[in-house]
Amino acid sequence: EAAGLIDRYGRTATDLRVSLIDRCNLRCSYCMPAEGLDWLAKSSLLDTAEVNRLLRVAVERLGVRDVRFTGGEPLLRKDLAAIVHHAAGLQPKPKISLTTNAIVLADRAAELAEAGLDRINVSLDTLRPELFHTITRRRRLDDVLAGLAAARAAGLDPVKINAVLLRGINDDEAPDLLRFAIDEGYHLRFIEQMPLDAQHGWQRSTMVTAAETLALLRSRFDLAEHDSERGSAPAERWTVDGGPATVGIIGSVTRPFCAACDRTRLTADGQIRSCLFSQTETDLRGPLRSGAGDEELAEIWREAMWGKRAGHGIDDESFTQPRRPMSAIGG
Ligand code: GTP
Ligand code: 5AD
Ligand code: SF4
Repeated sequence: EAAGLIDRYGRTATDLRVSLIDRCNLRCSYCMPAEGLDWLAKSSLLDTAEVNRLLRVAVERLGVRDVRFTGGEPLLRKDLAAIVHHAAGLQPKPKISLTTNAIVLADRAAELAEAGLDRINVSLDTLRPELFHTITRRRRLDDVLAGLAAARAAGLDPVKINAVLLRGINDDEAPDLLRFAIDEGYHLRFIEQMPLDAQHGWQRSTMVTAAETLALLRSRFDLAEHDSERGSAPAERWTVDGGPATVGIIGSVTRPFCAACDRTRLTADGQIRSCLFSQTETDLRGPLRSGAGDEELAEIWREAMWGKRAGHGIDDESFTQPRRPMSAIGG
C-alpha cells in the first residue's frame, strides 16, 4: 500500500475539495465585488481529462475517499456530470458531493444524481426575495428554491443548506431559516464568516459567532447537544426540539477544527493547497502538462501536504489573508 497524504502533525488527508472554476453567477457581497473578479483564463483551467487524471491519482494512489466539487460555481462547468461520472467509476468508489449556489441546479439535479453524485450542499443565506437581491446582487431566489427541491426529488440525501449570517442584515432570520429547513426536509448549517473575501473587508466585529447563532436560534427552538462525534466535520450539531431534526453550526473562527482536519484542495488551475488558508501553493498542472507520470504527481502531492500548517492562524497577530479569495479556492 503506497503512502497517503500525511502531514508533519500526523493528520491524513482523505477528503479532496476540487474547485472546478473560479467564476460565479452570483455576486455575494461578502465574497466578491459587483463587477466580478479577474477570472482565470480558460487555458489555465484544468480540462476534463486533466481533472479526471488527478482524481484518479488522488483516489488510487493517495487514499482519497471523499471528493467534493466546488467553485466559484461548479455548475458553470458543462462537463460537471462527466467528471462526476468518471469519479464514480474509480476504485474504491469515493463519496462524491457538490457545493453549489443551486441557481442552475433544477434542470441538472437528476442528471448529476444519475452520474453518481451522492449529496449536495446549497448556499442560501435568506428566504426574503429583496434581501436575497441585496446580498447576492441577483434576483434568483426562486431558482435556488427550485434547485433545492430538484435535489431532494433526485434522491440526493442529505440536502444541506449553508447559511452565512451577516450582522444587521440576515441574522434576525436565523430561526425562520431553520423552520423552513426542517419543514422542507433540508439540513441547515450556519457558517461563521471567514477572512477570505476578495475585498479583504472581513472584520471580527461583524462576524456572527457560533455562540451568537446559538442564542439567536434559542429564541424560538430548544437546542440540545447532539451526541454524535464531530470527527473531522466542520459542523457541530444540535438536536432541535427533541429531534429528530438537527442544525449544524460551523464555527471555523471561534471553534476551529484544524487539529482534526482531513482535507486537501485542488484549485481550478491545478494548484494544490494543503489548507484553506495556505500562503503557498504547489503546482500540479505544470508537471501534468509536461508529461509527469502518476507516481511523480502523487509524490508532489505528498510533499505539498507535508508542509500543511497546524491551524488557520486567524487569531495570530501576524495573520494575513491568503492572496487567492474564497471564490477561487472553493471554500
Ligand atoms: P460536509 O461534508 O457536508 O460537512 O461539507 P463541508 O461543510 O465540509 O463543505 P461545504 O463546502 O458545505 O463548506 C461549508 C463551510 O465550511 C464553508 O464555509 C467552507 O469554507 C467551510 N470549510 C470547509 N472545509 C473547511 C476547512 O478545511 N477549514 C475551514 N476553516 N473551513 C472549511
Ligand atoms: N466565510 C465563510 N463562508 C463563506 N462562504 C463564502 N464566503 C465565505 C466566507 N468568507 C460560504 C458560501 C458557501 C460555502 C462554500 O462557503 O456561502 O456556502
Ligand atoms: Fe458565488 Fe459562492 Fe461567492 Fe456567492 S459566496 S458569489 S455563490 S462563489
